[in-house]
Amino acid sequence: MFKHFKPWLYFPVQMSHKLGPLFLKIYSRFRPYQTLTWRPFVWNGIEFNNPLGTAGGLDKNADDIHSWWTMGPGFLEIGTITPISQEPNPGEILARDNNTQALWNKMGFPNEGVDQAIQKLKTLYQPHFTPIFANIGKNRTTPNEKAQDDYITCVHKLTPYVDVFVVNISSPNTSGLRDLLLPDNLKNFLAPIVQANEEASNSYNKDNDVEDKGPTPILLKVSPDVDTEQLKSIIEISCELGIDGWILTNTTLERKGVSFPSEGGVSGVPLAERSKEVLKQAVAILGERRKNKLLVSTGGVMTPEDVFERLEMGADLVQTYSALVFNGPFFFREVADKANAFGLG
Ligand SMILES: Cc1cc2nc3c(=O)[nH]c(=O)nc-3n(C[C@H](O)[C@H](O)[C@H](O)COP(=O)(O)O)c2cc1C
Repeated sequence: MFKHFKPWLYFPVQMSHKLGPLFLKIYSRFRPYQTLTWRPFVWNGIEFNNPLGTAGGLDKNADDIHSWWTMGPGFLEIGTITPISQEPNPGEILARDNNTQALWNKMGFPNEGVDQAIQKLKTLYQPHFTPIFANIGKNRTTPNEKAQDDYITCVHKLTPYVDVFVVNISSPNTSGLRDLLLPDNLKNFLAPIVQANEEASNSYNKDNDVEDKGPTPILLKVSPDVDTEQLKSIIEISCELGIDGWILTNTTLERKGVSFPSEGGVSGVPLAERSKEVLKQAVAILGERRKNKLLVSTGGVMTPEDVFERLEMGADLVQTYSALVFNGPFFFREVADKANAFGLG
């Protein structure tokens, strides 16, 4: 029904943003969870029925996990979650351009805080119907010198409830956050988080007498606005510290072919080329070190063919936010049908 007729694209963006999850909740209320199996994948003992999932920011407060599970994603990402609840940045925070299929946001991690997210995660059956990634961030009032404390708080609290952590220091909407990606800062910032994650997993396994599967994997979400040298340092430092993979990429400050305010991040079609370039570079930089590391591609994945292209380029998993806005929530089904028709299952 929604293949050609997409009424939400004619509503003001803020209204669609509120109505989308509501529609999804109503639609999915009496529907069973949907397993769409194509290109199944196991990584670090975590099973994915298919490699296409939701990107960070779509379900900031873990409100819509049940709803999305009826639509057939291979995995879900919740967050960005911060230790303490916070409001969005002031002023305009969201815009959409239907012509260029672009989104712009300057949200700044509005969320209810980690304790509220945990209340919702507690209602889920274990094991989860799909893997759940928790994207974690810092509160905007926390200075960069203390940023790791916020991430460590989230790691400690969320360890029993999620399958993978995504360390987000690539959003352009929290002042100074991207400075943590700079080579001089990255090691000092990441090392204590990696250590805290090991401790949190060990003590969870011990307290609950569960089989020790090692620490919860940590992925680093990377900005598209880094040059090759910086990307190389980011990957090298993260490999050295035992980071398990990367999400490429967050939104961009570039404004090629779109006219949005200069602050804030752009996603959707205008991000596609840069996101692909970063994926290509990451595959080349990693080379032999690729084994067991996870590469997740996101940014401008708008069609089933875009999903297949990212996988062919070397991504293990693919995520989308904008395609779910411009194409609607049946995108997972559309991609799975094409994948199976092409024999990619
Ligand atoms: C409205 C909006 C909010 C977002 N919020 C977050 C967020 O909280 N954390 C995060 O890591 N990425 C966030 N993102 C970035 C997406 O996860 C993704 O990296 C980016 O949108 C590129 O994918 P896309 O082109 O499929 O949208 C947000 C994107 C949009 C459009």
